[in-house]
Amino acid sequence: MTGDAEQRPCFITTPIYYVNDRPHIGHAYTSLAADVLARWRRLEGRPVFFLTGTDEHGQKVEKAARDAGMDPQAFCDQVSRHFRDLTATMALSVDDFIRTTEPRHKVACAALWDELVRRGEIYLGDYEGWYAVRDEAFYGPDELTERDGVKYAPSGAPVEWVREPSYFFRLSAWGERLLAFYEANPDFILPAGRRNEVIAFVKSGLGDLSVSRTSFRWGVPVPGDDAHVMYVWLDALTNYITAAGYPTDSARFATWWPAELHFVGKDILRFHAIYWPAFLMAAGLAPPGRVFAHGWWTNEGQKISKSLGNVIDPVRLVEEFGLDPVRYFLLREVPFGQDGDFSRAALVARNNGELANALGNLANRTLSLIQRNCDATLPGPAVRGASDATLGALVDGLAATVGGHLERQEFHLALDVVLAAVREANGYVTVEQPWALKKTDPVRMAAVLRILHDALRAFATVLQPFMPGSMAKLLDQLGVPEEARGLGALATPLPGGLALPPPEPLFRKIEAPAA
Ligand code: MSP
Repeated sequence: MTGDAEQRPCFITTPIYYVNDRPHIGHAYTSLAADVLARWRRLEGRPVFFLTGTDEHGQKVEKAARDAGMDPQAFCDQVSRHFRDLTATMALSVDDFIRTTEPRHKVACAALWDELVRRGEIYLGDYEGWYAVRDEAFYGPDELTERDGVKYAPSGAPVEWVREPSYFFRLSAWGERLLAFYEANPDFILPAGRRNEVIAFVKSGLGDLSVSRTSFRWGVPVPGDDAHVMYVWLDALTNYITAAGYPTDSARFATWWPAELHFVGKDILRFHAIYWPAFLMAAGLAPPGRVFAHGWWTNEGQKISKSLGNVIDPVRLVEEFGLDPVRYFLLREVPFGQDGDFSRAALVARNNGELANALGNLANRTLSLIQRNCDATLPGPAVRGASDATLGALVDGLAATVGGHLERQEFHLALDVVLAAVREANGYVTVEQPWALKKTDPVRMAAVLRILHDALRAFATVLQPFMPGSMAKLLDQLGVPEEARGLGALATPLPGGLALPPPEPLFRKIEAPAA
């Protein structure tokens, strides 16, 4: 990779998760997608700052602490730890883990607030309206539905009537500028369908936004007016600039901000695609490069919820199936951006068919033949003939094709392309029958095995972000040195004569779960 664009630093974020409850599959999913992109960027040789963390203020967390009979800070410490542990369980290559109760973050919130006040973007008034604690969000009367005398937000969360003094952000003044911004940056919101929803919402007219509360205390105090704490979404969104160095480290901030990409679920798109760029522009700061809103997982066809008791614990899933099959499945099964259903049978089928059979067997067959028939040493680079052309072209173009999909967060298509190439390679083995060539044409046998080795190297290299553990193992077995595992190194063939270790199975077949 050459040129300035390719060296541009990349700041990639996950949402910061509420500490009202333990992590579940949905949290693991968003963080996993962000991790794959962060790892891909590193393979491209770009500087990466990958951030995750926990959102610890607000009424919802305060209530969860009270229900647990704990002091809010002690409660946050305890639950935040589970999210931090999840980064190890899922092998998330995070560079920082931010907690909104940290002093650095309170400093950033106060600085952003002061800047907004200084620019006349915040004023004091009275808020009267509907609020859903579960969403930590305000709703207009026309957005609500009523059942048995209780009003509900579109998310299904019950709302309550709130009336209290409040500071307001002049969001109403930002509608036109937001629309101009979306227009000038057509890929700011992905997928495109979600972008249209956001634009329609902004076009329907934005009111000013209440950005402080007085009826509880668990939040960042408003500078100069201790009766108020900041609205938890203003506090939470600010985490992204806190971690990038705002306002204390301007050199660091200049390096990482604006973020390349905020990964979020579709539930919190409005906050990221409307409020956040408005806050930033109002404070004279650049909006992020992109917000990608992915879809929602259900569990065996049912909505995932604590009350249904069907929450999927990512830690148990990894214990049961192994990390890489879980990582692979989550990004392979469902087009990124769409809703999807988690099913154990589907995970087992993907693992057995695509990992253990297609990829695992290809590696095992190829490497075993090199062990047995080539004295466990890598044949020299092969001159390709006509029958090698199809596979050769797929392999040569693989990193660029996969990279093209990852530019648009099409993880499922990236994996599709790799799997198609793996299948092509398996077909090539069947046609070429390298085991039969040992006696008849050992030179051709060496060429075929070398072509397969080159293919496996390319597969393993581009799959590292998805399955870091097993692909490191495969690259070890292929004899690829650490320093030759980036995308740029793929253009340089490995020298022939390299001693290769005996292969070991990469993936195990899993028994199909009882129906
Ligand atoms: N604290 C806010 C985010 C603040 S970001 C500045 C929040 N936290 S959360 O704990 O509720 O996490 C929400 C995110 O978790 C969703 O946006 C999504 O990324 C992920 N998911 C939670 N449940 C999910 C599914 N069932 N399916 C997929 N992802 C889901 O909102």
